[in-house]
Amino acid sequence: MDQSLLNVIQGYPTKRMPLWLMRQAGRYLPEYRYLRSQAKNFLELCLHAELAAEITLQPIRRFDLDAAIVFADILLVPMALGQGLEFRDKEGPFLESIGDVGRLVWKSERIRAVYETLERVKKQLPPHVACIGFAGGLWTVACYMVAGRHEPGFVSVKAALANDTQRVERLFAVLHDATVDHLVRQVRAGAQVVQVFDSWAGILDGEVFERWIVQPTQRLVAAFKEKCPDIPVIGFPRGCCLEDYERYISQTGIQVCSLDPNIHELDARDRLKPLTVIQGNLDPQLLVEGGLRMERKVVDILEALGPRHIMNLGHGVLPQTPVENVDNLIRCVRAWEGK
Ligand code: CP3
Repeated sequence: MDQSLLNVIQGYPTKRMPLWLMRQAGRYLPEYRYLRSQAKNFLELCLHAELAAEITLQPIRRFDLDAAIVFADILLVPMALGQGLEFRDKEGPFLESIGDVGRLVWKSERIRAVYETLERVKKQLPPHVACIGFAGGLWTVACYMVAGRHEPGFVSVKAALANDTQRVERLFAVLHDATVDHLVRQVRAGAQVVQVFDSWAGILDGEVFERWIVQPTQRLVAAFKEKCPDIPVIGFPRGCCLEDYERYISQTGIQVCSLDPNIHELDARDRLKPLTVIQGNLDPQLLVEGGLRMERKVVDILEALGPRHIMNLGHGVLPQTPVENVDNLIRCVRAWEGK
């Protein structure tokens, strides 16, 4: 099986530039909106293996991509820990108050649909397309669990790090065990690569970045690798500064680092690419715009970071993205690799 994504990660030569997009399944696709309109809500889709598998495969059928990411959500982990979860239209996720951390008990069977989704996807994926599983970084999941919903800068959670350190530590310990088990189960169900989304890493820096991002990720990767030594881990500490990306890459044990659009490709080339394989980092807003500006940026990224690179966005595809622009992005990447 010749998969460009795995070849690039393992250092083998490949003619194809591996290309996939965070949130490649989602509201910008008419076929997703159709299935979504048939279901009660987003959570119901995630927990229905047949529908979730179909949604995972939608972008693979439509576009020439090199990886499929299981259709699920990082907040299924708190749900399987017993914390009530609801997604309200246009408002995002709402979690019940945690109360006593000791009451959280990991029951993976509550979200066994995710593993069944992967099994179904695996049977239908073309052999050159890699299958990606994922989980949230402990910090990012803890942010939603403690605040209960999106909060600008998650200021209440940052305050808890200082004022209620022991409680946060207990929460991280519970999340560590749950997340390791969740990732391992995804691998057993067919995932060949896993990505850890730490979407709110960038609101911490210095010592707190070290303590609540670098160290927990290092422990997470080590525990995961004990069970799945050959499965590459993609880390995504979104929004942190260049120096923190360097620290994260050199200390956590990840195999690939996903970059957000704030890191310039020339800085990435000089400071990060020597340390690891890079994934990214086209601005999703440029994909909404499309046209020449997007095309030029794609070439700049590929010239700076290719050929041993994983082309992706710097964050998820936005719902207002025109589908033609995604076609155009893929055409640009394929033209560059063929030249
Ligand atoms: O295609 C893929 O990338 C796989 C699916 C995926 C989803 N969520 C589906 C989703 C992945 C990898 C995630 C990760 C996720 N979920 C993150 C980390 C990445 C990031 O975006 O920063 C976070 C922070 C969440 C939590 C979450 N889920 C929020 C804050 C929201 C609301 C915002 C929004 O976009 O509506 C969601 C909902 C969500 N997760 C949707 C999808 C397709 C939209 C649901 C809908 O159809 O209404």
